[in-house]
Formats: sequence, structure tokens, C-alpha cells
Amino acid sequence: MRSPYPPGPRWPAAVQSLLFQRHRAWLLPTMARRYGDVFALRVPPYADKLVVFSRPEHIKEIFAADPTDLHAGEGNQVLGPVMGEHSLLLVDEGEHARARRLLMPAFSGAALRGYRDLVAELAKAEVDRWNTKTEVITLDRMNALTLEVIMRVVFGVTDQHTRDQLAPRLHRMVDISPIVLLGWVIPGLYRFGPWKRFNHNQSEVDALLYAEIAHRRRATDLGERTDVLSRLLQVGSETGDAPLTDAELRDQLITLLLAGHETTAAALSWTLYELARHPGLQHDGYVAARDGDDKFLEALLKESMRLHPVIASTARKLTRNQEIGGWQLPAGTVVNTSILLAHQRSESYPDRWTYRPSRFLDNEVEPNTWLPFGGGVRRCIGAGFSLMEGTVVLREVLTRYSLALRTGSEPEREYVRNITNVPRRRARIVVAAR
Ligand code: HEM
Repeated sequence: MRSPYPPGPRWPAAVQSLLFQRHRAWLLPTMARRYGDVFALRVPPYADKLVVFSRPEHIKEIFAADPTDLHAGEGNQVLGPVMGEHSLLLVDEGEHARARRLLMPAFSGAALRGYRDLVAELAKAEVDRWNTKTEVITLDRMNALTLEVIMRVVFGVTDQHTRDQLAPRLHRMVDISPIVLLGWVIPGLYRFGPWKRFNHNQSEVDALLYAEIAHRRRATDLGERTDVLSRLLQVGSETGDAPLTDAELRDQLITLLLAGHETTAAALSWTLYELARHPGLQHDGYVAARDGDDKFLEALLKESMRLHPVIASTARKLTRNQEIGGWQLPAGTVVNTSILLAHQRSESYPDRWTYRPSRFLDNEVEPNTWLPFGGGVRRCIGAGFSLMEGTVVLREVLTRYSLALRTGSEPEREYVRNITNVPRRRARIVVAAR
């Protein structure tokens, strides 16, 4: 019988999986050249059958599909051991709609405007510590900054001690090597070495989060607080939804803390690197930062997310046999919208390898071709937040410093760390005071 799947490589699943995790910047374009715009891979433990799409009309079809037919939560199950079963990323249908409804107000336009000053204050404190004429390892500095920002947004005013305890543990939690990943597939390994340490670290994070939740439940000023935790503790009173349990709160908090910092840090680090490489654009960025032209600063970020997509793809698992992009796919197939391939299509992006932020100012970018935040009912809940944060941070950096690469430094390469695509050499730049 003819396979229902589009063509794809016949290599062993373990080889495909390793290449997909570690070398996707090579694997995906190579497969697209060999097999065309739609192809199939076997990438356990992510998916036994993964079908990759990148054409705008296919992307549109997938993002607009009925969420009961395409389960993103099931498609993201690999994140379960860290994020927890209630995580917004992992639930589907009714449970997803409820979690999304409860979390959304904390990311509304009004809420974002409320976080702006805090982000500016923390960004200023960070760049104040930079020494001119020395190299700044932007990926590390942006990671520290975005973690501090997201902790403050999620917890609001808490004692510094809790944040100091949490920060290194959260860093360790997202440092997921393929070795640790193996423990997710073979749970018995958790009694030994790196897997035991991973589990222990996670228990410590959970204990800190549960202590914070218990403490906050006793607060008498919840109504005046604007942080995510305080908002979540009050939900239900107006919408009629059941209040969130401690376990649900833990899962949503950890999801926001983890999904909300490495990603934005990677986007910022790539942007600073591109600006160090392009002095003309950097000058324009400086003028925009000085004059408060946020649209231009946002275009700088958007184009770096286009050229260096932070997350390579989104996943949806089919709950029934159905046709996608003209292919009759069986239930259980994982449909992958490839952000990486969509952003490299020469039909969508003329001179696709050039960093040209003006694309985002001249209305050149067509719908369903720019997908760094995914789409449909599962579109990243933090998209607006991260663009706001990125713009504010760029403004602080560009008004204070000029950026350059060290003479003779090698060009940066894409590197997948955990799930995010980061600059391999961590985008080191030399800063000089303006
Ligand atoms: C540059 C920064 C970011 C990038 C590139 C990014 C990317 C993504 C992508 C690709 C998805 C999957 C969307 C889909 O399946 O269609 C996603 C989902 C999600 N992101 Fe982000 N993200 C970023 C920042 C953030 C921030 C700052 C937060 C939180 C404050 C956040 C929280 C989430 C959550 C909770 C989801 C799950 C949404 C759902 O399933 O309903 N992300 N993000």
C-alpha cells in the first residue's frame, strides 16, 4: 500500500532525530531541496511521524484549523517533564481555552504599558554595569536581564532572596542536554548522575514556587498588585471560572518564567550582533532610540527574528485523519510549521540572507510568511511583551553605547541550545560610550 506520507529520508529514526535537534539549520533546507516544500521526518521522542510545511497557504491552513482537530498541547508533550501537565503549552481544547482566558489579561495592551517602566529601570541597571572598550557577551547579559524582567513581572514585589535563589536554578532547568532528554524517555534513569541532579534542581524550584504561592495567597493587597501571580490568584471572581489550584499555578508560572526569558534574550542578542555588523543601521537605530521611534526599533528586532528564528517550528498533532496541504494524513501525525524554512523562502523575502529591517516598515512582509511567534489560537501569549521588552532594551543600549565587533572576529553561527537558536559564540561585542 502506498504510504500516506509525503516523501522523506529513509535514514534510521535516531539519526533523523539527532540531526533535527542539533543540526536543523542544515537538515531542513537540505530536505526541502531534495523532497520539495512538504516532507516527512521521524524524530522520536518529538514525533514518530512529523510532516514539515512552510508554504504560506499551508501555514494559513494549519493555524486557522479547528483546535479540536489539531492539538498543539499534544504536539508539545516533550516539554511535559519541565512545564507540568497544566501548562498553557501542554493543554488542549477546553482546558487550553480556560487557561488562556485566565492568563490573557496579564498580557493585554494596558498591562504591557504598565510593565514598561520596570523594564526600562532593569535595562538601565544592566547597561550601567557595562565597561566600555571591553567585550560584552551579549547572550549571557541578555539572559540575565530577561530573567530578572520576567521574574519581576511574574512575581511583582517579592524579596530579593527568592529571586536570587530562583535565578540559577531556572538557568539549570532549561539547560537540557540530549543526555537529560534521554531521562524523559527512560524514567528509571532519574536515580542516577545527571538525571538525579536535574530532578533535584526541579524539586528545589518547585519548593520555591509553592512557598511563594502560599505566601501570596495570604497577602491582603492582591487587588492593588499588577503582577501575574497576584492577577492569577484573583481570577474566577469576575469570569465565573474555578480558581486555579496550587499545582495549576506552579505549571503556569514555570511556563511563563521559562518560555519568557531565553527566547527574548536570544532575539536581543542576535539583534545587537547584527547592529554591531551594520554601522549604518546602528546609526539609524541610535537616532530612532534618541527620538523615541519605537517602530524602527521594533523593525530591527523583527528582522533579526526573521533571519535568525529563535524557535524553529511549531507542532500540532492530528486528532483524526485529515487533509492538510493536499495530503491525507493519518491521526497521530505531527504537523510542523517550519518557521525556519518559511523565513528563508526567496518568494517571501528577496535577498533573504540580508539583514534589512526596512522590510518591516515598507509593508513588504506578506501574511503567513513571518511566524516567529507561531499562530492561530496558540500564537505566543508573550509576543507583545517580548517586542515591548526588546524595544525598551534596545533603546537603553543604543542611546548609551556604540557597538562593534572585535577586529578579525569570526562570524556568528546558529546554534540550538535547549530549544532556542542562539549565536554559537554568544555574540560578543565591544561597546564604547557615546
Ligand atoms: C522572542 C521571544 C519569543 C519567541 C520567539 C516565542 C515563540 C513562541 C512560539 C513559536 C510559540 C508556539 C506558538 C504556536 O504553537 O503557534 C510560543 C508559545 C508560547 N509562548 Fe512564546 N515566544 C517568545 C516570548 C515569550 C514570552 C516573553 C512569554 C511569556 C511572558 C512567552 C510565553 C509563551 C507561552 C505561554 C506560549 C504557549 C501559548 C499557547 O499554547 O497558547 N513567550 N512562543
